Amino acid sequence: MTDQGESLGTIAKPVDGGDSDSVRGSRQRQSKRRMNLGFQRSLTRIWRRATRFLARSMPTGLFGRSLIIIIAPMLLLQAVVAFVFMERHWQSVTTRLSAAVVRDISGLVDIIETYPQDTEFETATRIARERFKLGIKILPLEDFPAPNPKPFFSILDTALSKQLAEQIDKPFWIDTLGDSAFLEIRIRLEERVLRVFVPRKQAYASNTHIFLLWMAGASVVLLTIAILFLRNQIRPIQRLADAAERFGKGHPIGEDFRPRGASEVRQATSAFLEMRNRIERALEQRTAMLAGVSHDLRTVLTRFRLQLALVPPSGEVDAMSGDVDDMQDMLQGYLDFARGDTGEEASDVNVVDVLNRFNDDARELGREYSVTFSGSPLAELRPTAFSRLMANLVLNAFRHAEKVEARGTHRRRNLVLEIHDNGPGIAQEQRAEVFKPFVRLDDARNQDESGTGLGLAIAQDIAHSHGGEIELDTSDLGGLLVRVKLPV
Ligand SMILES: Nc1ncnc2c1ncn2[C@@H]1O[C@H](COP(=O)(O)OP(=O)(O)OP(=O)(O)O)[C@@H](O)[C@H]1O
Ligand SMILES: [Mg+2]
Repeated sequence: MTDQGESLGTIAKPVDGGDSDSVRGSRQRQSKRRMNLGFQRSLTRIWRRATRFLARSMPTGLFGRSLIIIIAPMLLLQAVVAFVFMERHWQSVTTRLSAAVVRDISGLVDIIETYPQDTEFETATRIARERFKLGIKILPLEDFPAPNPKPFFSILDTALSKQLAEQIDKPFWIDTLGDSAFLEIRIRLEERVLRVFVPRKQAYASNTHIFLLWMAGASVVLLTIAILFLRNQIRPIQRLADAAERFGKGHPIGEDFRPRGASEVRQATSAFLEMRNRIERALEQRTAMLAGVSHDLRTVLTRFRLQLALVPPSGEVDAMSGDVDDMQDMLQGYLDFARGDTGEEASDVNVVDVLNRFNDDARELGREYSVTFSGSPLAELRPTAFSRLMANLVLNAFRHAEKVEARGTHRRRNLVLEIHDNGPGIAQEQRAEVFKPFVRLDDARNQDESGTGLGLAIAQDIAHSHGGEIELDTSDLGGLLVRVKLPV
């Protein structure tokens, strides 16, 4: 045993019986703990899965969720009420009614058995008919018909059987099936069989479904009212969300948009409108300030140019006037950048038309240029700003590459435009850099190209003001891929 114990030996070898018991105990405790742990883990897994399922199948909208908040307690309440009603009220009424009927029948049985000399049983029949409203017939002793299948919903069947067994204590047969107005009960007496027809209403609380109907009807009415009210409450929230979305994309917000609905929603709407005004004011201020600065600088530059014109011509003077020209271009570019596209209204723009406008430039510059597009070419955009965005990207590509492709898709509410080229591209680590104003790689590449380095900055600004974004990637043509994503 010891050998085996050692060879199995994951647990210390027991020295005597007591220790062996304690080892077994601790082993049992351990395995119990492990089982508990496993059980807990599977419980958490089930719980997590259930919550994930619930989260997935729950409606995501506020309207749906609010409806559930109303409907769920109502259903629960109805279920409880219906259950309690069925269970308690309906059952106890049926039991009492059956008890009364069976009491009447047992009275009749007594009469029949006490006065067997009344061979036609006229008295019993009369009493049954006039006093108890029961129809009876006395049959000769015979076997009962085959028992009926037990009905599925058998409150009446059960109650009657119980009362018959308790009060009369003789073999009986009942037929509660069908929706005839009568139930049939047969009881075997000493020498004959008593057949009783009981009006169904007498033994059974039969109008209970009306209560359920009332309950269902009332809840339908309540629900309709709740839906109508909820809709009205949720519409202002929906409007606010739409307005915020439109503002984010740079679309105009309707003139009639104003605070409505519950006070919290009004507060949010007012705050949103306030924020919009502040942003617009800040943009206007930025533009005005920059316009002022560049105007002042331009005045100085013009004076400079005049003074240069008065100096006798020389190489240095030419270089200086070249610099003055550059400065003027930069100022103009900066002003354009600062002005952005504020104030322009969005309208339906044919994106394919805009892209095809560069065919002439391509021909002039001797570039290979093609446009492919899938989906509807119409999108709600700010026309001038959008044309400028595309021009900056396509002309950049023309500057750096021989072959350029514009590919676009418009699916659901997403417009994606890609400008592919086969030029040198932009290295991964410089891709974030080139979006900054005045950043040019061409200087480093020793290319003698004029440019201010604002093209991509402006393009990004325009994309952002449409609620979209621009990203750079490597094209399958070998050069740069500029991808513009715009929600429209
Ligand atoms: N398609 C391209 N392929 C390779 N490099 C590019 C491409 N497009 C832009 N670049 C690089 O990114 C830099 C920034 O481009 P951006 O358009 O902002 O300025 P720019 O073209 O130099 O000047 P501007 O557009 O203001 O005339 C460019 O200097 C250029 O080196
Ligand atoms: Mg450019």
